[in-house]
Amino acid sequence: MDCLKVPKCEGEKIRKELLKRELLDQDGKIDSEDDHLFLPLKKDVEFKLDEFDYEIVDREIEKRENKERDYKELVDVPVKMEKYLPSSYDIIGDIALVKIPEEIKEYRDQIGESILETHKNLKTVLEDKGVHDQFRTRTIEYIAGEKKTETIYKEHGVELEVDVESVYFSPRLATERYRIVEKTEKDEVVLDMFAGVGPYTVLIGKNVDVDHIYSIDLNPDAVDYLKKNVRRNNLEDLVTIYEGDAGEIAPRLTCDRIIMNLPHSSKNFVKAALSGLNKDGVLHYYEIIEEAEIENSLESLLDIIDKLGYKAELLEKRLVRTYSSTKVHMAYDILVEKK
Ligand SMILES: C[S@@+](CC[C@H](N)C(=O)[O-])C[C@H]1O[C@@H](n2cnc3c(N)ncnc32)[C@H](O)[C@@H]1O
Repeated sequence: MDCLKVPKCEGEKIRKELLKRELLDQDGKIDSEDDHLFLPLKKDVEFKLDEFDYEIVDREIEKRENKERDYKELVDVPVKMEKYLPSSYDIIGDIALVKIPEEIKEYRDQIGESILETHKNLKTVLEDKGVHDQFRTRTIEYIAGEKKTETIYKEHGVELEVDVESVYFSPRLATERYRIVEKTEKDEVVLDMFAGVGPYTVLIGKNVDVDHIYSIDLNPDAVDYLKKNVRRNNLEDLVTIYEGDAGEIAPRLTCDRIIMNLPHSSKNFVKAALSGLNKDGVLHYYEIIEEAEIENSLESLLDIIDKLGYKAELLEKRLVRTYSSTKVHMAYDILVEKK
């Protein structure tokens, strides 16, 4: 097969250029050897070699299987608008949630249709207009496909029923959730203070031989889905669900490990969390914070714990994800022990 032999450092630039000019054969896998990449070329296209100034070589190329196209290749927007096309979107079950920049709003339907076209497993594309308020629910607008907001999401072998409009849910926390599953120990009692539809609760319940899980949420819709998900995963005997304010409910419970996934206001709940803890235990504390403020905020958290009469030891500090150009989503695992 004819391939354009380009230096690796030029590879991405030339690949994009070939793609734009519809010269790249996307059925073939890009190959490499030493400092060069071999970009497969389509047959029977007019190709002006001097434009690129690279050698065309004949090379054995592997076929790509299940080739997934980028939706951007289908959208027909003026070149100057291409930079506004969303570079990613969330997929929850068979629903895609996409944030559309203001500059490219008029192409919203085309973006939706192209996303559907390139993902055969998707049924619906919705516009994600951001998470708000205490329940952290999203403002959603329908763009393309089936008109629905409910779906089944699969993560690490468990199924969760989710309504992407009336409850909070993010597939972006999958790695973080599994990290907590791996930290959780046999026979522990776990408190999921802000449980939502129950991803932490269900993943821990299904993967660790814990003694019990208490799961709280204030949003009645989230609690409905939490109940469904506990039932769907046969965890009714292991999980007790509370609808209400974790600040009031947590102090009535006793546990060994607490998940505090309310990253904009976890600090307001530290006292309630600690009063629900056995003599010692682990807090999985989340916050969304200006990157420059991480150390100050962590120090103030450890100070709060100290003033409440507990010794605190930071076990792990992890960047969960970048939240905005200046903010990050952090996770702190803190071992606390009553003084
Ligand atoms: C960021 S979401 C996390 C949900 C879930 N842990 C997850 O990972 O998908 C925070 C959740 O806390 C709930 N919430 C907010 N304030 C609360 C409170 N005072 N007590 C209990 N739950 C609360 C919201 O309804 C929301 O479902």
